[in-house]
Amino acid sequence: MHSAIPVADGVHWVGVNDYETHLFEAIWPLPRGISYNAYLVVDEKAALVDGVKAPFLDEMLGKVRGVLGPARPLDYLVVNHMEPDHSGTVRALRDLYPEMQIVGNAKTAAFLKKFFGVERNVRVVEDGETLSLGARDLQFHLTPMVHWPETMMTWDPAGRILFSGDAFGGFGALAGGVFDDEVDIPYYEDETLRYFSNIVGKYCRPVQKAIEKLGDLPVAVVASTHGPVWRSDPGRIIDTYARWSRQETEPGVVVAFASMYGGTQQMAEAVARSLAEAGVEKVRVHDLSRTHVSYVIRDVWRFRGLVVGGPTYNTRLFPPVENLLGHLENDRLRGRLLGIFGTYAWSGGAVERLRSFAEDGGEFDLVEPVVEAECRATPEQLQACADMGRNMAEALKKHA
Ligand code: FEO
Repeated sequence: MHSAIPVADGVHWVGVNDYETHLFEAIWPLPRGISYNAYLVVDEKAALVDGVKAPFLDEMLGKVRGVLGPARPLDYLVVNHMEPDHSGTVRALRDLYPEMQIVGNAKTAAFLKKFFGVERNVRVVEDGETLSLGARDLQFHLTPMVHWPETMMTWDPAGRILFSGDAFGGFGALAGGVFDDEVDIPYYEDETLRYFSNIVGKYCRPVQKAIEKLGDLPVAVVASTHGPVWRSDPGRIIDTYARWSRQETEPGVVVAFASMYGGTQQMAEAVARSLAEAGVEKVRVHDLSRTHVSYVIRDVWRFRGLVVGGPTYNTRLFPPVENLLGHLENDRLRGRLLGIFGTYAWSGGAVERLRSFAEDGGEFDLVEPVVEAECRATPEQLQACADMGRNMAEALKKHA
């Protein structure tokens, strides 16, 4: 997709696909790549809404110039979000178009100065303020913490397009199709949930506030900075984000464990087997030493039940399990059923840490029994793991 793609009359997608970055934010895997969606709105004045990551400047500019011609400059750059996957080209665009006005709110202006030393020709807008491009206006709505404090959305009343920034976005490069009616939506669903849970999930309340605030806009197109542009069914992605931000879950259980020599795995498998025997169809067993935590977090956000187990390592919880807990504590999960188990050889540590997670790491209903094994689980302790799985299955049925 090396040319601009029309979104509506006077509006073009000028984004890029990134298949080069292995880890988004240097944490999250991108096996299917990611798109950075930028949009060009052309009237008497030309405005670029959002940008791309720095290495993709030339590709984006080629698309912009393909629409504007080589000589016409950009009049405005609207910065909905300052994370450098979108703002990485700000400095270069400022140098190319010295008279271009960079449009953002007060917090954007502070970031522009601190990240890029950009202070000149910055136009600071208030919540609800309008910018005229000629016959067409752009209106700015502040939506802080979706995903940074300066985040805002830009509304195009003429096309009824909501340029929503990170909100309603997902991982996964645009595989030929740009619009929701051009792509295989189920192909993107897992990656959209992984993006939501990994990147935006901590900010559920701000997501809800943004949806409430903009709920009266007659949105025809949701144009996020990542993933498909929703023009056929924009309500679908808004509803999906609303549901996830309310932490609505499906009946199912994630069993997340790590095991150095198989002892903890044996306990995890005893739990998983009893879940299956009790009729829980959706069981996801993740070995945290093998599966990147990004995918585990995605499944934890999807399902109501979570069982976490790990060995003790140098008197503490085994690091891959600790890594998961750290992420989940940050997310402040609500309304989940939690089971915990662990092992130790000569000092405790793992189960003590798991108990503190159960008490303070989110809003959990702890499913008994908690199982702690010394070196290797005894037959009685394996039976206790099975009891925990059965109790979890029964609790899931009560919540259904
Ligand atoms: Fe796509 Fe928060 O940046």
